[in-house]
Amino acid sequence: MGKSKKRKKKKSIAEQPGDGSVEPESSPEQIEEVEEKSATADESSSSSRRDFLAKAGIVAVCSCAAGALAGSVRLAVPDFFDGPPERFPLGRPSDFKTGTLTWVREKQLFVLRDEDGFGVFSSRCTHLGCTVRRTAEGFFCPCHGARYDARGQVTHGPARAPLPWYGLWLEQDGYIWVDTGEEAEMGSMRTLG
Ligand code: FES
Repeated sequence: MGKSKKRKKKKSIAEQPGDGSVEPESSPEQIEEVEEKSATADESSSSSRRDFLAKAGIVAVCSCAAGALAGSVRLAVPDFFDGPPERFPLGRPSDFKTGTLTWVREKQLFVLRDEDGFGVFSSRCTHLGCTVRRTAEGFFCPCHGARYDARGQVTHGPARAPLPWYGLWLEQDGYIWVDTGEEAEMGSMRTLG
């Protein structure tokens, strides 16, 4: 179809009436040359289309791989940011009986006291920050169903990071102080005084 159009165009130019001069008709060799050039142009355009699709495919594969890598790196990073770090007193050691887990609502913390000492960790779900609830096995988040064991390790998503534990010490005033900017090892208990 492309061929017949090109032939017609050549002919109509040659037959146009003008100043009396008549353009010579293209020779069959010239027409063949034009057609060859056109075929080469078609091939090169289809080859550059193939190149483009191949490159687009490589970019898509690389993006997927980068996404998967980023997802695996983020596994231990909370989705929820619990505000800037704070230091504050929690109470006296005698306020917490051995063998108890106390929820400090205003600070959204649990204070665990057992035979090994004291431990303090967040009561905010690391998924989107809802307050977790105590269960027989550990903790449960009522918002999207995340579960943690008794030390705050994730046992069921969508949360991916454990409940953070914080540094604590006994101040000279006799109060237990907490620093939420100092992350402690999960399950680490401190003997105070
Ligand atoms: S906020 Fe806890 S599971 Fe979503």
